[in-house]
Amino acid sequence: MSRILITSALPYINGIKHLGNLVGSQLPSDAYARFMRGRGHEVMFICATDEHGTPAELAAAKAGVPVAKFCADMWQVQKDIADGFRLSFDYFGRSSSQRNRNLTQHFAGKLADNGLIEEVSEKQVYSNADRRYLPDRYIEGTCPNCGFENARGDQCENCTKQLNPTDLINARSAISGSTDLEVRETKHLYLRQSAMRDDLDKWIDKQEGWPILTTSIAKKWLHDGDGLRDRGITRDLDWGVSVKRGTEDWPGMEGKVFYVWFDAPIEYIAATAEWADANGLDDMAWESWWRTDKGAEDVHYVQFMGKDNVPFHTLSFPATIMGSGEPWKLVDFIKSYNWLTYEGGKFSTSQGRGIFMNQALDVMPSDYWRWWLLSNAPESSDSDFTWESFQGGVNKDLADVLGNFVSRVTKFCRSKFGEVVPESGAYGEAEAAVTAEIAKRLKAYEKYMEAIEIRKATAELRAIWVAGNEYLQSAAPWSVYKTDPDAAAAVVRFALNLIRLYAVLSSPFIPDATAKILDAMGVEDAGWPDDLDAALSTLPAGHAFSVPDVLFAKITDDRRVELEEQFSGTA
Ligand code: MF3
Ligand code: ZN
Repeated sequence: MSRILITSALPYINGIKHLGNLVGSQLPSDAYARFMRGRGHEVMFICATDEHGTPAELAAAKAGVPVAKFCADMWQVQKDIADGFRLSFDYFGRSSSQRNRNLTQHFAGKLADNGLIEEVSEKQVYSNADRRYLPDRYIEGTCPNCGFENARGDQCENCTKQLNPTDLINARSAISGSTDLEVRETKHLYLRQSAMRDDLDKWIDKQEGWPILTTSIAKKWLHDGDGLRDRGITRDLDWGVSVKRGTEDWPGMEGKVFYVWFDAPIEYIAATAEWADANGLDDMAWESWWRTDKGAEDVHYVQFMGKDNVPFHTLSFPATIMGSGEPWKLVDFIKSYNWLTYEGGKFSTSQGRGIFMNQALDVMPSDYWRWWLLSNAPESSDSDFTWESFQGGVNKDLADVLGNFVSRVTKFCRSKFGEVVPESGAYGEAEAAVTAEIAKRLKAYEKYMEAIEIRKATAELRAIWVAGNEYLQSAAPWSVYKTDPDAAAAVVRFALNLIRLYAVLSSPFIPDATAKILDAMGVEDAGWPDDLDAALSTLPAGHAFSVPDVLFAKITDDRRVELEEQFSGTA
C-alpha cells in the first residue's frame, strides 16, 4: 500500500468554470483518486478555490458585494457543483484561509532569509478615479505601433506588439474609463527564479516518464530567450495575503499583498492543513503528507492541471519549495491537459457559448458528463465536444453496452429463476474464454490508470463491458433455457457476477450508476478484483438481488437538437 497525494489545479473564484476546466484537472484527478482508493492505497485528494487577484476584486465589485463575502458565497457555489459532479476531494479549501496566509508569509520569509528575494523599485500606473493601482491588462489605450484604439497595457491584440502601459497613447482605466492616471514609483518583491535555474533544470531532467506536454513547456521557459526571469511576487492591491516576512512586518511593503500566483499553489499545502483542522487532527496529520522530515518521503505526489498552468507548477512553485531550504515535498508527477473545444470553436463565457458546470448538471446526470469527458479527455491533443458525440457516448457505451447488459441479465434471471443467483449448471469453455479476455483487458486498464492515461483506460473498460455482452449474446441463455435450464442458469450466474465486477471496475468513472448497481446486487464486498476468478464467484448461488431501475436513459435526437440550440450562444 502506498500513500498518494493528489492535487487538482485550484479554480479561480470569479465565476463558474466550463467543462474544459473540469476535464482539464478536477475530473481526471477524481477518477485517479477513486481508482487508487479502490486499489487500497491511502489517498489524500485536495482542491480549493483560488480567491485572490484583481479578477476576484472586480467580479465582487460588479456584483456589488464586499470581496470577502463574494468569495465565501462563490466558494459554496463551487463546492456544491463539485459535489454534483461527485468530485471526491478529501478537502476543498480556500486560498484565503488563515492557514494559507500563514504559510505564504512563512515561505516568503524563508526565501528572503536565503537571499532569494530582491526589492525592486518600479513605476506603476495609479488611477485617481478608481483609487487603485492598475495591473497592466486593466489599462487600455491606442497602440503606438498600429494605432489600434483598444490595445491593452501588456500587449496590442491587433498587431501583437508587447507593450508597457506607459507606451499607450491616451491611456485610460479599463475599469472606469478614466484618463486621470499617473505613474507612481512603488517597491515590489521579486523572486530570484533565475538564481535557481540550474537546480530547476536538473530537477526537470531527473523526472522520468513525465508527459511530453509537461516537460516541453517547462524546458521552453527555462531555455527560451533570456531564460527564466525573476518574477514580481507582490502587488498593490487590497485583497490578498498581506506581505510579511514570516510573522514580522516587512518595511516598505505596508498595504501590499502577495501576487495571486505566489499564494495559490501554497494553498495545496494549506488546504491539507485545513483538512486536519476540520477533522480535529494535529499538525502531524497534514505534515506527514508534505514534510519529508515527517513521513512524506514515501508519499507519491501527483498534480493535475491544464497546460496553461504548467509553467507555474514546473518552475515557480518548485522554486518556492526549493528556495525555502526546508524539507517540503516536491511533486513527483505532473499530468497536464490540452484544451476542450466546443462544437469546433472556443468556449466563450462572454458569448454564452459552450457549457458551464452548473448548466451541465441541470440538463444531464453527472455520470453522463463524467463518462463522455473522461473517455474523450484531451490527453494527446485537443478534443472537441459536440452534442452528437455526447449523445453517441451516452447511448452506445452507457445505455446499449453497460446498461443493457445489466438490465437483460437481471430481468431474465427474475423471470426464470427469481431474484436470486441460480444454482444449477456448470461453467465451461465460454466462461473461461471471456474470463481470459477480461483478465487481459483488466491488466491494460490498470496499467493505463497507473500511468494516468485516462482516455486509454476508458477504452479498456468499455472493451470489458463489450466482452460481457458478446458472451451473453452467444451463450443466449434465453434460447438455451428451453432445452437445458441448468446450462442457462450457469450463464446467468456467471453474468450476474460480471455485473458486480463491472460495477467495481467502473466506479472511478460513473460512481452514481455503480452505486446503484452494487446496491441492487446486494453487494457488500466491492473490493478490487486482484484475483479475477475469485471476483467472479463473489455472488454465490442463492444470493438475493433486485432488478435496478433504468440506469441510463437514451438521449433522443429531438432532445439533442434542443440542447444544441440552447448552448449555441446565439440565444
Ligand atoms: N486558478 C488557476 C487557474 O484557474 C489555477 C491555480 S493552480 C494553483 O488557471 F496552483 F495555483 F493553485
Ligand atoms: Zn498595435
